[in-house]
Amino acid sequence: MDLFSLKGKSIAITGASSGFGHHFAGVLAESGASVALGARRLDKIEHRVQEINGAGGKAVGIPLDVRDIKSCQFFLEESRRVFGPIDVLINNAGVEAGAKTYAMIDEEDWDYVFETNLKAVWRLSKIYTELNLETEQSEGNIVNVASITAYRTIKGQFPYAVSKAALVKATEIMALESAKFGIRVNALAPGYILTDVSRLLLEGEKSETFVKGIPMRRYGEFSDLDGPLLMLCSDASRYMTGSTIVVDGGHLCAEL
Ligand SMILES: NC(=O)c1ccc[n+]([C@@H]2O[C@H](COP(=O)([O-])OP(=O)(O)OC[C@H]3O[C@@H](n4cnc5c(N)ncnc54)[C@H](OP(=O)(O)O)[C@@H]3O)[C@@H](O)[C@H]2O)c1
Repeated sequence: MDLFSLKGKSIAITGASSGFGHHFAGVLAESGASVALGARRLDKIEHRVQEINGAGGKAVGIPLDVRDIKSCQFFLEESRRVFGPIDVLINNAGVEAGAKTYAMIDEEDWDYVFETNLKAVWRLSKIYTELNLETEQSEGNIVNVASITAYRTIKGQFPYAVSKAALVKATEIMALESAKFGIRVNALAPGYILTDVSRLLLEGEKSETFVKGIPMRRYGEFSDLDGPLLMLCSDASRYMTGSTIVVDGGHLCAEL
């Protein structure tokens, strides 16, 4: 028995137009899942869907703005219409506000980051749970993409790091409250990997010094997340809920 197999499972993933979500969609499809990809940049989503379907996978692209409740509702209903009950919801969409301190951000920065990184996760998870209950789906699985900034204290990542710390707590509380519905809720907390979200930091002048603070002396690669992702999405994690898995080359243990 392959515990990590996703054969027969359907997975809806937010923020699949670039970075992690784009990569995850391919990994999940290769492992046998039918994947619904959501994001605002539809051209990028459609391109990825074609790649996955062309390689023999099953994928569909659905327009999604996680800051819009109707769009979230449509995303999950449409995913379900195409693939049937959604076994796993991956809340991956996320944004940052640039290299700013708490004194530099304004109301707009705060709302933009918190609405996308935190409020949208609650909103999508709530709709997902309601849909599961309405249709008497006996099991469900939510995977939130947090970050090691939830734990590390670093200057200039406010309010991003605060939103991710709150997401870890939200994961725990949702796990506690949804266990009675058969829904598991866990999170993945990656370290630093080059994408549009981390570009400013990883390509900035402090990059070399920064990497020396990672015990494994390198930034992460997308594929470093594949194992933990497959574990959380599959039955390999069937007795896990409320957990956050850190994947960071030891960065949390660093002295610097
Ligand atoms: N890169 C890292 O080092 C790192 C480390 C830890 C955690 N993370 C987390 O990983 C997740 C993915 O980020 P990434 O690094 O892959 O960056 P990315 O390449 O910029 O991807 C972010 C994704 O979020 C989507 N998104 C943003 N706002 C959205 C909205 N309102 N509605 C729907 N989708 C939205 C974007 O799609 P559209 O713009 O097309 O809508 C895009 O697909 C984020 O939660 C991020 O915080 C990243």
